[in-house]
Amino acid sequence: MENNKKRDIFIGGAWPYANYYLHVGHLAALLPGDILARYFRGHGDNVIYVSGSDCHGTPITNRAKTENRSPEEIATHYHNEFVKTFNGLNFAYDEYANTMSKHHIEYVEQQFKKLIDNGYIYEKEELQDYCDECGCFLSDREIEGICPHCGGKSTGDQCEVCGVSLDNNEVLNKHCSKCGSTTIMKSNKHLYFKLTAFEDELQNLININNDTWRSNALGEAQKYIDMGLVDRAATRQLNWGVPVPVEGYDDKRIYVWIEAVLGYLSVGEEVAKTRGIDFDKFMSDSNDNLKTYYVHGKDNIPFHTTIYPALILALKNGYKLPDYIVSSAYVNLNNEKMSKSKGNLITANELLEMFDSDTIRFYFSFKGPEKNDMNCSLEDIAKTHNKFMVGMLGNFVNRNLSFINKKFDGVIKESTVDEKIVDITQKMYRIIGNYLEKAEIKNAVTQMFEYIALANKYYDSKQPWIQVKEDKEAFDETTYTCTYMIANMANMIAPILPKTSQNIKHMLNLPEFKWEEEKISGDYTISDLQLLHTRIDEKQFEENENDKTAKNSHVKIKK
Ligand code: MF3
Ligand code: ZN
Repeated sequence: MENNKKRDIFIGGAWPYANYYLHVGHLAALLPGDILARYFRGHGDNVIYVSGSDCHGTPITNRAKTENRSPEEIATHYHNEFVKTFNGLNFAYDEYANTMSKHHIEYVEQQFKKLIDNGYIYEKEELQDYCDECGCFLSDREIEGICPHCGGKSTGDQCEVCGVSLDNNEVLNKHCSKCGSTTIMKSNKHLYFKLTAFEDELQNLININNDTWRSNALGEAQKYIDMGLVDRAATRQLNWGVPVPVEGYDDKRIYVWIEAVLGYLSVGEEVAKTRGIDFDKFMSDSNDNLKTYYVHGKDNIPFHTTIYPALILALKNGYKLPDYIVSSAYVNLNNEKMSKSKGNLITANELLEMFDSDTIRFYFSFKGPEKNDMNCSLEDIAKTHNKFMVGMLGNFVNRNLSFINKKFDGVIKESTVDEKIVDITQKMYRIIGNYLEKAEIKNAVTQMFEYIALANKYYDSKQPWIQVKEDKEAFDETTYTCTYMIANMANMIAPILPKTSQNIKHMLNLPEFKWEEEKISGDYTISDLQLLHTRIDEKQFEENENDKTAKNSHVKIKK
């Protein structure tokens, strides 16, 4: 490879809220992070790839209320589920933490104090709904009232009947949802983060990353600035979260977004420590050798393109701002928006029960919502698997290896590798590598399968089944060249299809994955020959327009 210097790579995968199972939208949005991490590790770079479960805030407390359990129980339960799911999908985080950890909580408290010391946090008093009976301030969701537009029942910020969003002051006849008492207005204080102080720097950040942030991120971030940034509440009226290290704030917690995004740094620091790396130096803006990637779904864009960079600037740690914002669009299911309330949400676990992890990884990297929302269906996953994993990749590997196994007892004799194929292979590593480094996963996968298509064509054009009878030397050369291509495929696909890569490597006893040309030499003996991938019966997933429930009958929907 032309670039031999070890690079520093920081990859932050978004922290899913631990209030429900991971669904295919999470999977599609987070997968690029794992692909990048595997690629850069294979390239020999210093990779720190972190994420964790987002365990605080109202998403968790609301869920706890509906399930009649404590927030801690809920968060712990789903965090453990996430760990299992990510393992099932072969995600290789350096650390997958959660925001309830002692280290994270201490880190956030300490950084929060720094924000205060640096002058970016101020206090503001506002009138807020208070229940005298319960002795506490009420959040919008804890208020019940009447919608001024339709007269229906509403919460403090939205009518449950006509759906209109409401300003808390417009809502009529407000009372406490817990005890029914009429609310009173009482002065309440909150801390605010001076986001507005960073407008120029954030605009500059958008400008300089014009080529590296995904276009939806650039667009959204610009929209936020154009609408005019506003200072953000840094505390919330909650008893679940990281305590505010300021006197008189016992009834409040640090706003979950500020807290969660700091998780990248709290966990990054931990990983660095275990490797004897100085995290401050690693993350430093003056570390020219560092590239940072942040991987999430498009609803997370504002937090990663404005709040997080502004926090880094406000902390004055000298850390690097995001180089790559890898923000995905949404996944629709059978052309419908997925949602918990519709009951058509497919969880990642449900997919894992039906398909191999590599089949899932392939599907969402090849068809993923990189620029636009994608439509997903079980039938399409099966079809895509059959066409690419079985028809192209599996076919090439198996037609070669099973022939040798049958005719030559599994021994591939040393011969020469076709020069033209070597050239093409070397070029492929460069092209695919470039795509991956820009997080253009679809282009990278497409290119990988062009290589596989070319390999199949090469095999067909040489007709080894005839060569073997007429010209043994030519046959050996074809076989050796095909073996070379198989060995290199095993490397190229490794970031996307780690399991398939390992299976190929096992059959040919090849060295561990590295992102570099595999120069084969000597004889090879095939061991444990197995079909890489088998056909999936597509019919079982066929969509029947008139029978929407039947088509999903094999999916156990969790309500
Ligand atoms: N928990 C948020 C969500 O699921 C994502 C937080 S990403 C982080 O949308 F970076 F802030 F952690
Ligand atoms: Zn009350």
